[in-house]
Amino acid sequence: MCGIIAITTRKKTNVSKMITSGLKRLEYRGYDSVGIATINEGQIQIMKDAGTIDQVTRKYPFETLQGSTGIGHTRWATHGPPTKINAHPHADCSNSLMVVHNGIIDNYLSLRKELKKQGHIFTSETDTEVLAHLIEEEFKSEEGPDAVIRAFKKALAKIEGTYAITLIHTADPTKIFLARKDSPLVIGVQDDTKFAASDIPAFLEYTKNAIVLKNGEVATLTPEAVYIEKNGFRVQPKPFIVSWTAESAQKSGYPHFMLKEIHEQPIALQNTLSVNINAIEEATKQIFEADKIILLAAGTSYHAALTGYYQFQRLLSKKPIYPIIASEYDTYQQLVDENTCILAVSQSGETLDVMKGLTSARKAGAKIISIANVIDSSIPRLSKVSLYTKAGPEIGVAATKTHTTQVALLARLALQLEYSLEGWLEKEFSSIISNFSAEVPSIARAVITQNELKSKQLAAHISNQNHSYFLARGRNLPIAMEGALKLKEISYIHAEAFPAGESKHGPIAIVEPNFPVFVISPKDETGKKMLSNSEEMKARGGYIVSITHKDQEVVKRSDQSFLIPESSSHLVTPISYVIPLQMISYYAAVHRGFDPDKPKNLAKTVTVE
Ligand code: AGP
Repeated sequence: MCGIIAITTRKKTNVSKMITSGLKRLEYRGYDSVGIATINEGQIQIMKDAGTIDQVTRKYPFETLQGSTGIGHTRWATHGPPTKINAHPHADCSNSLMVVHNGIIDNYLSLRKELKKQGHIFTSETDTEVLAHLIEEEFKSEEGPDAVIRAFKKALAKIEGTYAITLIHTADPTKIFLARKDSPLVIGVQDDTKFAASDIPAFLEYTKNAIVLKNGEVATLTPEAVYIEKNGFRVQPKPFIVSWTAESAQKSGYPHFMLKEIHEQPIALQNTLSVNINAIEEATKQIFEADKIILLAAGTSYHAALTGYYQFQRLLSKKPIYPIIASEYDTYQQLVDENTCILAVSQSGETLDVMKGLTSARKAGAKIISIANVIDSSIPRLSKVSLYTKAGPEIGVAATKTHTTQVALLARLALQLEYSLEGWLEKEFSSIISNFSAEVPSIARAVITQNELKSKQLAAHISNQNHSYFLARGRNLPIAMEGALKLKEISYIHAEAFPAGESKHGPIAIVEPNFPVFVISPKDETGKKMLSNSEEMKARGGYIVSITHKDQEVVKRSDQSFLIPESSSHLVTPISYVIPLQMISYYAAVHRGFDPDKPKNLAKTVTVE
């Protein structure tokens, strides 16, 4: 969950400016400390401290660092608190090399002990610093032009854990050395400049030519060339052109990435529903061939997966389907065998909780389908079938467009299953798909247009509250759960979602005047009971906010109503009904004076267990 970047160039320029700009675009990956190091005339220079990039660069003029080779890092602490000494980059004893790292070195304590015995002096509490001294130790017994890469590989062989590493060394001052295992690392290519970063937006303003470094690969970058190897054998790089523009990772005029990404949902949904049909058909085949299905995800992606569960359960009534929170996988692993199909949902494609479950499931012979937003990320690379949302980069830590596009892709998969089960005519099915693919973006657009102002007004009204409830029934529950997570994770108003029928079994006890109660009440079989649950809450003074269709009775009995255009399919509801909750959460955070893009204690990608 850290952001790393490295650049080497022949240009007559200091890389420090490009590194600083790249770090800004990686800040969503972690922002509790930041640092930069460059090599200039054979000497390493470094600046680093705890704090966000803006805070640290106000104290240290990163862009004054000279040199045409350098590395940078923005951190989300895992080992050692966010302090100056724990900030990356980390050096060896003689300040001849610098490393930055994203991931976790599981065996760092034993390595540290061994290295201390060999006389190495440690200054930080981090696992990463072990890397620097390990490379230094291995370098002692190497000489010649490839001494650094050989020392690097020998050090890597002793590391257990996950990593994306970039290394610079005064012995080879124009080169950058990279290695990747389970944490993302992408190479950016220009004729006379090479980039390496955790994520594409870091170098997108400079080049759209990219290469994904794969697990187990080690690379050497010079300003002119990219050399990749794996297990001692040369690997042919597979460059691709990034479809995202640098601007698309900018805020495009919105005050925050999150609001931009909420507004991008119609186009993101449209792009996602122009899905690769072969992958959908292959996924359908895997689902039919399996004797049980497990949906595996975390956080907001779990709420999308739970929506998929309700959709698949309706179609595959005879097939056991388990929606599992990824960190709870071990409880269910005895279910998994070669006849199990795992559908993993993860926008980053890097969530370690999901990765751990999938690694175990693969060992048991399970077939894996994944839904991710980042091409070729770690989870799709573990999958037999990879489906991709086409939401574009999501920089805000709170997932919005990646969530609704996940729901849309799961709905598209459900339609494909239904087509096979119901034996629809080809012609009939293609019109269902084209109607669905047209209706979803247009309803999303209408919901945003019709409800944004009211969302802002309601957010102001509830902004002085500290608690709230989100109620729904049946297949609408994931909407309530996602609404509650959004509100609490960015506005810090505590929010709890539960089945509306549970209210009288306890939760109603704390409802008092003005207590916000969000009621998810689409036009379906849950409507009547939702109205009575809403009345129970109102009788105790609850402030009833209904997310509903044009139902006069519901509107009359609510303090506030958000009217959602009706759709031809219940598959659209989890998309159209969650959007007002996203907007309410965003405006509540802003009204309460918080930055919705950088919620405290959270990072965009969680690569710790
Ligand atoms: C997003 O709003 C949440 N902060 C978080 O729960 C997220 O959904 C979760 O960490 C899963 O991330 P993934 O989709 O990248 O796997």
